[in-house]
Amino acid sequence: MSGKITVIGSTNVDITMRLSRLPEKGETISGGDYYQAFGGKGANQAVAAARCGGQVTLVTCLGNDHFTTLLIESFLNHNIQTQYVFVEETSFTGTAVIMTDKTGNNYIGVAGGANDFLTPDKIEKALPSISQADIVLLQNEIPEATVRFVLNTCEKLKKKVIFNIAPACRLTDELFNKIHIAVVNETEAEMVTGIKILNSSDVERAAKLFISKGTPNVVITLGAKGAYVAGETEGFYVRGLEVEAVDTTGAGDVFCGALAIAYTEGMPIRKAVEFANAAAAISVTRLGAQPSAPRRDEVLDMIKNLAD
Ligand code: RIB
Repeated sequence: MSGKITVIGSTNVDITMRLSRLPEKGETISGGDYYQAFGGKGANQAVAAARCGGQVTLVTCLGNDHFTTLLIESFLNHNIQTQYVFVEETSFTGTAVIMTDKTGNNYIGVAGGANDFLTPDKIEKALPSISQADIVLLQNEIPEATVRFVLNTCEKLKKKVIFNIAPACRLTDELFNKIHIAVVNETEAEMVTGIKILNSSDVERAAKLFISKGTPNVVITLGAKGAYVAGETEGFYVRGLEVEAVDTTGAGDVFCGALAIAYTEGMPIRKAVEFANAAAAISVTRLGAQPSAPRRDEVLDMIKNLAD
């Protein structure tokens, strides 16, 4: 049973340099490799969910430049519905400059461009898709007013939202109970909750804070160490998988896209997080954000191999 997912978020073009190590402030490092790929947290999550078999509609805003047609073609090639892919005539497509080292650590800087034009009026146009979705997948790389509008609209329509609060921000209290599953990494958890995360009890305290404010499910991703998952009645860890990381860019997005599809298919949250964890582990063994997202059969093979 493939789930219907509406992803609302950013699209970027990622300009990546792979260096022997990340530079210090003011330092120049030469000898890097260069590549360009499609990225943006919204588009990455849409592609990841589609590769895992979801019926995906993407609500995003592109600029008016030579990437516009190429991006739309790429979405269509992934069977992603594009009727709510808007084009802002006055802007450039969002752009990310990424520096990564050989073990997958990175720095990312984003110029939002057309993503800043994904305003609430465009979300209103996409209401038919939101109404039909099993789940709405949202990130924080679009205007704050739009994020708020999506959360309020989904509450009215009784639609469950998976909110990947990335990049992180402080949330006002009334937003927490409009999120069905919050997904954050440790740094984001720290920023959202104000709890300094140094050890596992801090992770658990941060998750509890979400729950106490009304979010029924929280997933705190822990990089190579896996993830901590908390609900109203239980909390548990899903262990990290040992892989050789070459590029972690977009791993969180692959996790969210895969989680959304597994969850809409009716997997219990533990199984859905294990599925997402395996998908993200595969993605870090490959370069780029969208190019690294695995297909469903690859994720299932990895899970099967772990069980054997
Ligand atoms: O999460 C990774 C993404 O963050 C990159 O694709 C980049 O575009 C930034 O949005």
